Amino acid sequence: MKGVLLAGGTGSRLFPLTRITNKHLLPIGDRPMVSYAIENLASAGIREIMVVTGGTHAGEFLRLLSNGREEGLDLLTYGYQERPGGIAEALGLAAHFADGEPVCVMLADNVFQYSIAPSVAAFEGQGGGARLLFAEIPEVEHLRHLGVPELDSSGQVVRIVEKPATPPSRYCVTGAYLYDASVFEVISTLTPSARGELEITDVNNHYVAAGQICYDVIEGFWGDAGESIDAYYAVNDFVRRHGANHLRGASS
Ligand code: DAU
Repeated sequence: MKGVLLAGGTGSRLFPLTRITNKHLLPIGDRPMVSYAIENLASAGIREIMVVTGGTHAGEFLRLLSNGREEGLDLLTYGYQERPGGIAEALGLAAHFADGEPVCVMLADNVFQYSIAPSVAAFEGQGGGARLLFAEIPEVEHLRHLGVPELDSSGQVVRIVEKPATPPSRYCVTGAYLYDASVFEVISTLTPSARGELEITDVNNHYVAAGQICYDVIEGFWGDAGESIDAYYAVNDFVRRHGANHLRGASS
């Protein structure tokens, strides 16, 4: 399985901090944000990763991450997204890199208390399709800024709604996604949403409609550090106190 780390976009919700750098290079605890997602992928045994980024600070990623040896990777390669055309568009740039293998995709502003290794292992035994990681979010207002699954009475995903005014469940879709190699064909069929982006939620709804989606509800803390300044500091506070990417069963 290959890893794809998405670190493009404008970071407009963290302006003015992101006028002078890429959002994913801002500090969380004692490290730049992007390094947590790389560490989490590596903790799940993923050794080949493509970082997709864009904008004027793209070169800084090479300076920071180099060839990935320090992170324990065998291969770290880079893709450049020419404009922020959406998460699914950014993922599409990794088609050649994936080369027919399944992919584990991480949004580089997501931070997890625990390693996603159990979900990666479960996907490997799933026989294809997609696997999502859901987090339980108590605040309805928070859910309105995220992708939210609607579940039927047996817990099957009926559909996923992006930034719903009325969230259909208390779960959000986190920014860790597992797909088989068909994801690149799915992306090639997408059309831009009202905000002009290729939406990852449209990709996920394709797998929902095909009956090829599974999910895990994660334990522990999850945060999207790019959601707002408040969220950025909430993630910082958590990481400084408890760290991140712990292996389940290890102390946190
Ligand atoms: O964090 C989880 C949420 O991430 C999910 O619940 C949503 O369903 C999903 O759409 C996404 O929502 P966001 O509003 O947080 O997406 P955002 O536009 O902030 O993009 C998230 C990351 O994706 C960002 O940190 C970098 C990457 N990205 C984004 C865009 C728009 C790219 O690499 N290229 C892009 O063009």
